[in-house]
Amino acid sequence: MKEQLEKIYECATEDLKKASSINDIEEIRGKYLSRKGEFNEIKKNLKNLSDEDKRIVGSLANEITRKLEDALKLKHDEFYRKELNEKLKNERIDITLPGKFIPRGKEHLLTSTTNEIVRIFQSLGFSVVPQEHSPEVETEYYNFDALNVPKDHPARDVQDTFYTEIAPNVVLRSQTSGAQIHAMEGKNPPIRVVAPGRVYRNENINARKNNFFHQIEGLYVDKDITFGDLKGVLNEFIRIYFGTSRPTRFRNSFFPFTEPSAEVDVQCIMCEGKGCRTCSGTGWLEILGCGMVDPNVLKGVGIDPDVYSGFAFGMGVERLAMLKYAVDDIRLFFNNDERFLKQF
Ligand code: DAH
Repeated sequence: MKEQLEKIYECATEDLKKASSINDIEEIRGKYLSRKGEFNEIKKNLKNLSDEDKRIVGSLANEITRKLEDALKLKHDEFYRKELNEKLKNERIDITLPGKFIPRGKEHLLTSTTNEIVRIFQSLGFSVVPQEHSPEVETEYYNFDALNVPKDHPARDVQDTFYTEIAPNVVLRSQTSGAQIHAMEGKNPPIRVVAPGRVYRNENINARKNNFFHQIEGLYVDKDITFGDLKGVLNEFIRIYFGTSRPTRFRNSFFPFTEPSAEVDVQCIMCEGKGCRTCSGTGWLEILGCGMVDPNVLKGVGIDPDVYSGFAFGMGVERLAMLKYAVDDIRLFFNNDERFLKQF
């Protein structure tokens, strides 16, 4: 058995001489020293020896395995250093080379404008509705019915609204006003929220109109809310958003979900009211529709219109950005021309 041990040790030493990588070392370790390795096989047979021989062969076996382990470790470290050095040499980085320019993306003008508007309303006490209360794909119920829009209203026509193939009553929302219904359903006033998002309309595209654009819906329902509150909030918003005073007008209007209703125009910045292509010669650009929430809408969501009243508004983000930054064509926002986008 002694010879057997020495023979194995010799073989292992031979193998080790031929080894040329860490992988080879690990293979040798497996072959001789693992649980199924050759030394262990011998150690298993120790039990058949006399006590005296057991002691001698046992300690020899231990000594030899220790020697082999040391030799393996030495070689392993040697190869490790060699492989590391090679790697460092091959993967050397020349830090004197000029860097590669990676252009940084930034917020789109419409995103920053939306954020700016939302922040203003937050400072006035409004909170933002959760995403699931303002979906872009809506049922006709939220986009029209619950907003008191009659079945035969022209806005429901496929010429104005995109219907989907999901189901006959599922549309790409044509306004963010449906978010009002989501915000009121199952809740008690006071409710004071804004809901930003994208809307879709089957429009003929021109300098002022695109077939999708962005709105920010606002809603405030509580006891004793008046048209004066609506005007106060919107005037304050306009003052903060434009920073300077801009000629503005409230115009009487009609929406099925508000009574009375109004629209707000801001003087066209491109022509300073003289009339141009952007404002189609009127000197004004409409930025929002608004009004006092129709009692029918409140009733529909279980809020008593004899106790509560509210105002609502829906503003166009593109229009507000055009008026602040003198963008004369809505299509500039969407055709991804870097020369335009870089300016903001
Ligand atoms: N949803 C209307 C539109 O897209 C705008 C609007 C008008 C929103 C009156 C309102 C409102 O909340 O009260 O033209």
